Amino acid sequence: MNNQLLSETARALVADDKGLLAMDESTPTCNKRFATLGIPQTEEARQAYRELIVTAPGLCENISGAILYDETIRQQRQDGTPFLKVLDDAGIIPGIKVDTGAKNLAAHPGEKITEGLDGLRDRLKEYFQMGARFAKWRAMIVIDDNLPSASAMEANAHALARYAALCQEAGLVPIVEPEVLMDGEHTFERCLTVTEESLRTVFIQLNRQRVMLEGIILKPNMVLSGLKCPQQASTDEVTTATVKCLFRTVPAAVPGIAFLSGGQSPELASAHLNLMNFRFKSQLPWALTFSFARAIQQPALEIWQGKEANRSSAQMALLHRAKCVRAACRGEYSEAMENL
Ligand code: 13P
Repeated sequence: MNNQLLSETARALVADDKGLLAMDESTPTCNKRFATLGIPQTEEARQAYRELIVTAPGLCENISGAILYDETIRQQRQDGTPFLKVLDDAGIIPGIKVDTGAKNLAAHPGEKITEGLDGLRDRLKEYFQMGARFAKWRAMIVIDDNLPSASAMEANAHALARYAALCQEAGLVPIVEPEVLMDGEHTFERCLTVTEESLRTVFIQLNRQRVMLEGIILKPNMVLSGLKCPQQASTDEVTTATVKCLFRTVPAAVPGIAFLSGGQSPELASAHLNLMNFRFKSQLPWALTFSFARAIQQPALEIWQGKEANRSSAQMALLHRAKCVRAACRGEYSEAMENL
């Protein structure tokens, strides 16, 4: 295991107030998003959309790394240049989603376990040889008044830790993503309790599996009210609760925390990240940044609609969101930026 390579890669991913662009939607998820907008659900359309993203001019000014999906990492630009080379030439570090999805956890109605450990060592080796330098695995933690169960949290944390150790063996920085879902009626206080417990469980397992904390990036949810909770927490409450939760649970050895957006609007996700950095940046041991999918891509996808004529306006929308979230990493984002 090359500890130096791992910690250098992890630090590079969060350096300079940049963050990650998650473009690793599985084929079914990508198709679902396309279907909502009437875009054909074909490999050609997925290739065209991903080409639009990786060739957006100046993307690297705000984005340090891009998370790809197995189909995407093997795709090329129309002119035959592999996406991996396009990213590399732009100075964007390529990453790869390696879990195979969340399945029902036996004997735990409503709860999920993420799969993908079988054969993972060989897949990681191949991705490293192709040029990937980091990986992603998402655990889904379902929340309500009674869930998650301790056993679902433990099973998911154990899988995350096994994955993380295998990644580090292969020279890939693991993005460790235990996502407490936004779906539900729960309060943000309940989300705080569950997120705290989940992160504590994850770090116990990471330590047990001998994962080097300097060579990971944590990708958590922010502490938010459930989407159907009648009382939505304010930006101030989200900021305070999220930072409190991270201070209590995430060791200072971890170089960076890159949030998922989880279904928040792009503006709200940016505002939350911004206030955290504006208030607390000088006190934080880790970089607080982003690894958003929807909160960076959604406006671009809606503009593109599968039409070549909309390609450059879609790219402009993508670059705008990337600029806004990097500003949020500096505590310099404001609503006014949305009207520029
Ligand atoms: P969202 O930002 O859309 O939540 O996606 C992040 C991600 O990569 C989920 O695994």
